[in-house]
Amino acid sequence: MTTQSLQVVILAAGQGKRMHSRLPKVLHPLAGRPMLLHVLDSARRLAPTRLAVVIGHGGEAVASRLEAPDVVWAMQDQQLGTGHAVMQAMPLLEKSGVVLVLYGDVPRIATGTLRSLFDAAAEGALALLTQEADDPKGYGRIVRDAAGRVARIVEERDATEAERAIREVNTGIVAAPFAKLEAWLAGLTNENVQREYYLTDIVAAAVAEGYPVAVRRPQSPTECLGVNSKRELARLERLVQLDRANALLEAGVTLADPARVDIRGELSCGKDVSIDVNCVFEGRVALGHGVTVGAHCVLRDVTVGEGTEIRPFSLLEGAEVGANARIGPYARIRPGTTLADEVHVGNFVEVKASTLGRASKANHLAYVGDATVGRDVNIGAGTITCNYDGAAKHRTVIEDDVHIGSDVQLVAPVTVGKGATIGAGTTVFRDAPAGELTVNDKSQVTKPGWKRPVRRK
Ligand code: UD1
Ligand code: CA
Repeated sequence: MTTQSLQVVILAAGQGKRMHSRLPKVLHPLAGRPMLLHVLDSARRLAPTRLAVVIGHGGEAVASRLEAPDVVWAMQDQQLGTGHAVMQAMPLLEKSGVVLVLYGDVPRIATGTLRSLFDAAAEGALALLTQEADDPKGYGRIVRDAAGRVARIVEERDATEAERAIREVNTGIVAAPFAKLEAWLAGLTNENVQREYYLTDIVAAAVAEGYPVAVRRPQSPTECLGVNSKRELARLERLVQLDRANALLEAGVTLADPARVDIRGELSCGKDVSIDVNCVFEGRVALGHGVTVGAHCVLRDVTVGEGTEIRPFSLLEGAEVGANARIGPYARIRPGTTLADEVHVGNFVEVKASTLGRASKANHLAYVGDATVGRDVNIGAGTITCNYDGAAKHRTVIEDDVHIGSDVQLVAPVTVGKGATIGAGTTVFRDAPAGELTVNDKSQVTKPGWKRPVRRK
């Protein structure tokens, strides 16, 4: 264990041209969150004393969108190279301890890997993270001397034919003591093909003064993959999702297919939870013991109680669902909804900003909006709350043990008293008394002998 402090610099000034997007590259979402946040999370787990992010093109958007109060932002107006980028952050750092340089577009980097680099640098070394690549194209190559010691890093575009054949590549992630880094950066020049200040040139500088260079390897062969295009982003998304699916399986969750689940937030599961294919979880979702989620469901910021069954093709957002409830198929539960235990919400039923009490049911084709529904209520097919008068929303109150027939309109604000029955096809525009049957005055006539028109040939 080292007592040295750690400071982190994250390079994120690149334009990301190959994303073909107006959104700055590091804001593109990976598993539902800007990719830079993933890098920040990995860095934060090392408890750095400073966390600096170098931004350039579109940088204001990055700083304002992320709202990260623990980050200090460094501006790099012109992208003159990775070395130049680090220089912009140096004045914002404490002049001691170890500096770790990360990339904002390498979002799957693991904290354990970073810790090994930090430890090496803390012992007095320039620590490099390198990898053997099957196809080293595009990367800086690690040039070693006859004794196998690192001599320098050469960028692809400056490399000779022989150097290009080297398969050990630079991931770009490095750590070094602050004072050393500062001195090496001061000596950088841009005498290379790209006319850039290469951070990688600090390796030759360290070697020239006999300073130790330590090499570390990432824990996994894919964690240093960077994002330069939508294609690479999509590949990383699948890797992140597979990591999450595997973690769920390890924890005892049943997944019909670990390759067909997307978790774009935090999903916590009790015991014996089962999730069918193509479900998407966003925000914070908590599933109690024994919950089953059918195929093609989307759950966003939802809590689901023990034993509840979410049937296929349901969309639930901002809702709390009790135990042993049955939702769907084809249910839409909108924000502000609380469904008590044993509630049934069936096909083509939309519930918004409403509370349904214990064992109440709306099994088919209904709209329940801005309603307070008691327990043991049955809402018939085709029933809707008319909650909107064109200007304001109004509440509907349905007390315990009410039976509402099919195709009823409840014109809010309105209250249906306890134990009331509403006949099919009724428009309830005044409060309906408890315990009574309420229907509209309607008559049914039959025209004797009426003939259906016949089309002439
Ligand atoms: C860099 C390394 C190369 C390594 C590769 C790994 C250098 C000179 N080369 O190459 O050895 O194999 O990464 O992917 O360091 N950035 C800035 N400001 C700049 C330039 C870059 O903030 O002026 C940021 C980018 O946003 C990006 C990171 O630095 O996050 C790397 O830049 P990029 O241009 O992708 O590096 P490469 O030239 O590919
Ligand atoms: Ca470059």
